[in-house]
Amino acid sequence: MHFGTDYYPEQWDANLIDSDMKWMKELGLNVVRIAEFAWHIFEEEERKYSFDFFDNVIRKAKEHDLKVILGTPTATMPAWVALKYPEVLSEDENGRKRVFGGRRQYCFNSQKYIELSSKIVEILAKHYSKEEQVTGWQIDNEFGHEGSDMCFCPICHRGFQDFLKCQYKDISVLNRTYGTAFWSQTYNSFCEIPIPKPTITTHNPSLMLDFYRFRASSISNYAKMQIDILKKYVGERQFITHNFSGGLFDKAMDFKNIGKSLDIVSYDNYPVWGGLKEPVPPYSTALYLDMMRSIKQKNFCVMEQLIGAQGHQIIGYLPRPGQATMWTLQSIAHGAESILFFRERAACKGAEQFCYGILDHGNKPGRKYYEVKKFIEHVHNSGFEPTDDINSEIALVYDMDNIWSWKIQPQSRLFDFTKEAERLYAPFFRLNSKVDVVSSDVDFSKYKLLLIPVLMLAKNEISDRIEAFARNGGTVVFSFRAGIKDINNNILFNSENRVESIAGIKIIDFESLHEGQSVEIKDVNSNLIFSSTVWRDLLECTTAQPIFSYNDDFYAKYAAITKNKYGNGIVYYVGTGAESAVVDKIAREIILKNNIAYLSTPNGVEIYSRGEKSFIMNHTPDPISFREIKLAPFEYKITNII
Ligand code: GAL
Ligand code: ZN
Repeated sequence: MHFGTDYYPEQWDANLIDSDMKWMKELGLNVVRIAEFAWHIFEEEERKYSFDFFDNVIRKAKEHDLKVILGTPTATMPAWVALKYPEVLSEDENGRKRVFGGRRQYCFNSQKYIELSSKIVEILAKHYSKEEQVTGWQIDNEFGHEGSDMCFCPICHRGFQDFLKCQYKDISVLNRTYGTAFWSQTYNSFCEIPIPKPTITTHNPSLMLDFYRFRASSISNYAKMQIDILKKYVGERQFITHNFSGGLFDKAMDFKNIGKSLDIVSYDNYPVWGGLKEPVPPYSTALYLDMMRSIKQKNFCVMEQLIGAQGHQIIGYLPRPGQATMWTLQSIAHGAESILFFRERAACKGAEQFCYGILDHGNKPGRKYYEVKKFIEHVHNSGFEPTDDINSEIALVYDMDNIWSWKIQPQSRLFDFTKEAERLYAPFFRLNSKVDVVSSDVDFSKYKLLLIPVLMLAKNEISDRIEAFARNGGTVVFSFRAGIKDINNNILFNSENRVESIAGIKIIDFESLHEGQSVEIKDVNSNLIFSSTVWRDLLECTTAQPIFSYNDDFYAKYAAITKNKYGNGIVYYVGTGAESAVVDKIAREIILKNNIAYLSTPNGVEIYSRGEKSFIMNHTPDPISFREIKLAPFEYKITNII
C-alpha cells in the first residue's frame, strides 16, 4: 500500500520542506503529489523555464525517502498566458469570458492552449522522465470539474460544427436525424448550426445530445494529447493517471475513453464538501468508488482523500473523530491501492484557506495527524496487500448518452440520475454484496445480475446484449421510463420498445411527480402499502406478473413493479421511484434466488470482504454490537474474513 499526501511546497517558506518531509515520513507516508498547479514556477514567462524549485523538492523527497507523483500544471495557466492569448479563455453559456483568477478557465479546443500545454508537458517530461524519485504523473487536475466541461466560445462553436460535419457528412442527414422541420430549423449548411447557448424555450434534443458528445470528446482529445506526449518520454518507467472528481454523472465526460489511455485511474474522494451539513450517505461514496475501480477493472488510486473539513466560501461538516479515516478504509476496501490525504497542511493564503489537511494552520500534530498515524499502522499490521481480486456478481450499468439525455430533459423536477442509480445500488450495498459500476459497453456475461437504472435512451446494440443476457439465465432490473428513445435522442415511432418486450409489459401512461407529491403502491402479495416519488409508469402486463400495483382511484388497475420470466432469466421493471423498503425486498429476493454473496449487518455497518480479509466500518455515530463484533462510533477495522 502507498500512503501519501498532496503537498504544496510552493505555498510555504522553502525552509519548511525538511521539517515537513520529516513528519510525513514519521507518520508513515511514502509518497507526495506535487506541482499540479505550479505552471508559473516552471515557466515564469513564455519559454523561460526553470526547474530549480521542484528539482530541489524532489531532491529533498529523495533524502526523506518519499516517492513523487508529478502533476502537469495545466489546470491553472499563468497570468501571462491569459493576457497574451485571451482566446484560450473559455466562455460560459451567456458568452462571458472566464477571466484570469480561479482555475480551470481554459478552453479544451483552443489551439493556442493545446500548443502551450503540449509545450510545458513536453518540457517537464524531458526533464523528469529519467528521475527515479518520480514514480508517476497526474495529468491536469479534475477535468470537467466546477463547470469546466462546458465552453461556448467561438472556437468551440466552429469545433462543434466540424464535429457534426464529420459525424453526418451531409447536412440533409443531420436534418432528417434531428427532425429540423420542427420550428423551421432546417439547416442549409453546417455553418448555420448554433452552439446551444440560451434561447427562448429549448434547443433540439438531438442537437443537445450531440453537443454533450462533442464536449466529452473535446476533453478526451485534450487528455490524450497530454498522455501521448508523456508516454513518448516516460515509457513504462512512470505511470500516467488523472484524478477524476466527484459528481461523476453530472459531467460531459467519457470516463471509459480517458481511462483506457491511463495506466491507472485516480479519484478524489470527498464524502462531504463545502456547504453540506452532513456527509453523503455511505452508499453514494461506495458507488463512485466502485465506478472508479470498474473503469479499468483494476485497483485505483485515491489521489485526494478528505481528512479535514473543506470549503471555499462555505465550510462543510466537520468529520467526527475517526470518521475521515473510516472513509479511507472504505476507499481501500472498494479497490484503492494508494491513498493520498488532502492536503498536507491547510493554506494560510489563497482561495483554499478553509481546506483543512493533516495539519492545520498551527502546524502542530493534532487529532487528524494521530488518526492518520493510527490508520496507517492498522492497515500495515493487518497484513493486507491490495490485489485485483474484487469479483462482483452484480453490475450497475450506465450509459453516458442516456445520462445526458436525462440532463437535457429531466421531465420531473425531482429527477436526478445519480439518485436513480443509488436507488438500485443501495439495497445491494446494504446487503454487503459487491457491485461493479460499469459503462454499457462491457461484456455482461460474467455477472449474475444487471441493475439498469432509467435507461430512457436504449441503443439497439445494448438492448441486444441485455436480451441475450436475460435469455441465458441472467437477472435484470430496469427502472422507469426505459427504452423510449433511440440513439439520436428521438422518441421511437410505431416501433416496439425493446425494454417493454424484455420486461413483458406495456407502458400505458406515465406521470411526472413533483415536490411533496408521492403515490401509494401496494405489494400484491401482502397488500402492504408503500410510497413512491419522482415518476410513475402505469404498466399493463403482457407476459410479466405484477408484484406492486398502484393504489389510487384512477390507476389501481395498473402495475407499478413487475417481474417477467424471459428465456432462462428474470426481468424486473421498477416503474416508479419506489421507497427503499420496496427495493430492499426485491434485492433480497434476487440475492437468495441467484445465490449471490451477501452478509446481513446492522443498519450503518458495512462489511466488504476480499481475499482473506474483511473491512468493517461503522458509518454511524453510535456504538454497535453484533455477533462477536463491537464497534465504537465510526470505528473501522480490518479483520480475518468473516
Ligand atoms: C479538489 C481539488 C483540489 C482542492 C480540493 C479542496 O476538488 O482537486 O485541488 O481544490 O478539492 O477540497
Ligand atoms: Zn471553447
